[in-house]
Amino acid sequence: MGLTGLKKDELKLILFGGKGGVGKTTCASSTALYLAEDFKTLLFSTDPAHSLADSLGQEIESEIKVVKGVKNLSVLQISAEKAFSEFKMRYSSQIRKILDTSTYLDEEDINSIFALPIPGVDEMMGFKTILDAIEEAEFDKYIVDTAPTGHALRLLTMPGLLDEWIKVMAKMRWKYKYMVTTFSGKYNPDDSDDFLLEMKRTVKRMEILLKSSERCEFVAVTIPEAMAILETERLVNTLNKYGMKVRQLVVNNVHESDNCEFCRKRRISQEGYISQIREKFKDLRIVIVPLQPQEVKDIDVLNNFKELLFER
Ligand SMILES: Nc1ncnc2c1ncn2[C@@H]1O[C@H](COP(=O)(O)OP(=O)(O)O)[C@@H](O)[C@H]1O
Ligand SMILES: [Mg+2]
Repeated sequence: MGLTGLKKDELKLILFGGKGGVGKTTCASSTALYLAEDFKTLLFSTDPAHSLADSLGQEIESEIKVVKGVKNLSVLQISAEKAFSEFKMRYSSQIRKILDTSTYLDEEDINSIFALPIPGVDEMMGFKTILDAIEEAEFDKYIVDTAPTGHALRLLTMPGLLDEWIKVMAKMRWKYKYMVTTFSGKYNPDDSDDFLLEMKRTVKRMEILLKSSERCEFVAVTIPEAMAILETERLVNTLNKYGMKVRQLVVNNVHESDNCEFCRKRRISQEGYISQIREKFKDLRIVIVPLQPQEVKDIDVLNNFKELLFER
C-alpha cells in the first residue's frame, strides 16, 4: 500500500514531517519527482541542514531554481533567519512607532524590546514565503520538507503565537487611537495600523490554508523503533489538536530480508513495532517502505524509490 491522493487537483500543499533521520527529505524529494510527472511542482526546504541539496545531488538556493534533469520541478531553500531580518528591516519603523506612541517607554527601552525575539515571527516570515508562492499560483503543487518535529510543530502552531503578539501590539495601538480621538476628535490610520492589519491577515490566511483538508496534507514519516514511534504520536496528536489532519504515515527503513541471522532478528524486532504502529495509528493509512541496500539520493535512485512510496 503506497501513499495516495496526492495528485488530486485541489491539494496544493503537502508537508513531510517526523523525527530526524527517518527519511523526510527522501520522501519529500521523491514525492516531488512523482508529482512533477503531471504537475508544475515547487519543493521547499525549511530545514537549515541543507539536506535537500544532498538528496537531489545539486545546489539549491534562496531563490527558486529549476531542478536539473527533471521536467516541471523547481526547488527553494527557505531561511527563517533571513526572512526575519527582512521582516525587521521592512517593518521596524512601524513597530517602533507603535511602541513609541503608546507607552511611556524611552528610546533605550524600545531598543531593548526591539532586540528581543518575537515568538514565531521568523518561522512565520519563512512560511509567508510559502504562502505567497501558493497565492501567486505559478505552480500546481507545493511540497515542504520540514526540519525535525519540534521545528515543524513550531512552524505550524505559530499562527497562534503570533496572533498573541499582534493582539498586544493592537491593544497598544487601541489606547493610542483612543487618546488621539479624545483629544482631536478624529483618528487617521497610519502605516503602523496597515502593518498590524497585514500581519493579522497573513496569520489568518496561513491558518485557513493549514486547516483545509482539501488544500493541505501533512504526511508523517517514521521508522519502526520505539523512540520514533513516541515522537510520531506526539506529532500526530499535536497536529490533530491544532486542526490539521494527518491521513497517511510512512513507515520507512523496514527490513524485508530473511537471509541472515542478523536480518531475521531485525525483521522480528521491527514486526513488533509495526504492529504497535498499526494499533496506535488505526485511523491512518500506513505505508510500509523497505530499507534499501544503498543510500537513497540523487535523481535516479529517488525515481526508483518513488515506485516504492506510491500506489500506481
Ligand atoms: N528506505 C531507505 N533505505 C535506505 N536508506 C534510506 C531509506 N530512506 C532514507 N534513507 C537514507 O537515510 C538517510 C536519512 O534520510 P533523510 O531523508 O535525510 O532523513 P530526514 O530528512 O528525516 O532527516 C539518508 O542518507 C537517506 O539516503
Ligand atoms: Mg531532512
